[in-house]
Amino acid sequence: MTLSASEVNQLKHAPAVEGMLPVIHQRWSPRSFADREVSAADLARVFEAARWAPSSNNEQPWRYVVGVRNSGTHAKIAATLAGFNKAWAPKAPVLILGVANTRFSRNGRPNDYALYDLGAATVLITLQAVALGLTTHQMGGFDHDAIRKALEIPEDHALGSVMALGYLGEPGALADEHLIASEVTPRSRKPLSEIVFSAWGEPAQLA
Ligand SMILES: Cc1cc2nc3c(=O)[nH]c(=O)nc-3n(C[C@H](O)[C@H](O)[C@H](O)COP(=O)(O)O)c2cc1C
Repeated sequence: MTLSASEVNQLKHAPAVEGMLPVIHQRWSPRSFADREVSAADLARVFEAARWAPSSNNEQPWRYVVGVRNSGTHAKIAATLAGFNKAWAPKAPVLILGVANTRFSRNGRPNDYALYDLGAATVLITLQAVALGLTTHQMGGFDHDAIRKALEIPEDHALGSVMALGYLGEPGALADEHLIASEVTPRSRKPLSEIVFSAWGEPAQLA
């Protein structure tokens, strides 16, 4: 017998660290989504969070194409998913493609930070979603040419991730044993000593 959704949700939380934002502690990327729609008001709230991300020159290069279940856009995004993403992500009630305008609107010059800024805005979506009781899972596994064509994304807009958004579902509802096993496996992270340096390669002495 596998774990329930609420049990797995506890297991996936990051270890509690004093002072860490609860939404950071609680966010993780599930593959099982409940059969429950996301309200239009909550959809607006997650994109409102994205609006307030920082960006190079305040260009706000992020653009999102959102598909809610039973819409043509949801079906088009789902049809481009690759590999095992096809087995779980189409069940999410909302699928979102994030893209970044790679040219500055004021002079048409290349914006080298466009994808960086899209990532920052998208992380705010993931955290706002948690605050609303929702959950997200980003994917890079999709057919880039097909999605560009299907959603008519201009060539000067770089593709970011496809994001599934919805409510957490039961792990046991996933299509196969591999997906269920990964859904109930604890998360792991590199230690701070591997990612924060006082000089290159020398772990910074933190707390
Ligand atoms: C840009 C990006 C691409 C990803 N691509 C996939 C994917 O194609 N399929 C998938 O199941 N998960 C995908 N993930 C999810 C990661 O595997 C997941 O975020 C990572 O394992 C850390 O787990 P956590 O989000 O639960 O902390 C992707 C995440 C990001 C940010």
